Amino acid sequence: MALLRPDLPARERFRNRQHALTMTSDTIRYSDQRHLPTEGLLALYQANAWSSAEKPELLHKALLASHSLVTAWDSDTLVGLGNAISDGYLVVYYPHLLVLPGYQGRGIGSRLMGMLVARYKGFHQHMLMADGRAIEFYRKCGFQRAGKTESMWIYEGHDH
Ligand SMILES: CC(C)(COP(=O)(O)OP(=O)(O)OC[C@H]1O[C@@H](n2cnc3c(N)ncnc32)[C@H](O)[C@@H]1OP(=O)(O)O)[C@@H](O)C(=O)NCCC(=O)NCCS
Repeated sequence: MALLRPDLPARERFRNRQHALTMTSDTIRYSDQRHLPTEGLLALYQANAWSSAEKPELLHKALLASHSLVTAWDSDTLVGLGNAISDGYLVVYYPHLLVLPGYQGRGIGSRLMGMLVARYKGFHQHMLMADGRAIEFYRKCGFQRAGKTESMWIYEGHDH
């Protein structure tokens, strides 16, 4: 489990990056609207081999029921998505963040994460579970390992 520490220098670097990204117009459009075509959604999850793609109806409902949902689009193609679950006051958890493989490494993931973190600015805990390959990415977004915690779950997937 990783927690966001507002006082980290990395957070500052992340903020600066968000500013730079906002100022740089590219072809990617970002949205916080709850518009999610099922086909594009499945393509995004399948391309990243995420097992929740095997439950398409539940996945669609779950994302639309999130406290926040942010998406990235190249024209009509869904190329990135992030969501948040929150009590609305103190704690926010970021369960999903993924970018189409062909679009990774172009700043899309950090821009989506930046949109979510900005929405919950000032919250006591920003939490997420960082998969091995994404740990460095989340460090760059200002997160750090949460004390001496160990992530625990009951999980029906088989992609970890
Ligand atoms: C992790 C993920 C969301 C990052 O999105 P992205 O658009 O590729 O990342 P960005 O282009 O915004 O990268 C931001 C910074 O993180 C770094 N980074 C991104 N992915 C990384 C990785 N896997 N390992 C190390 N560094 C990484 C980038 O190099 C970049 O560094 P820089 O600021 O020094 O240039 C994306 O790679 C992805 O969808 N991966 C598969 C799904 C996944 O693992 N999701 C996270 C679940 S825990």
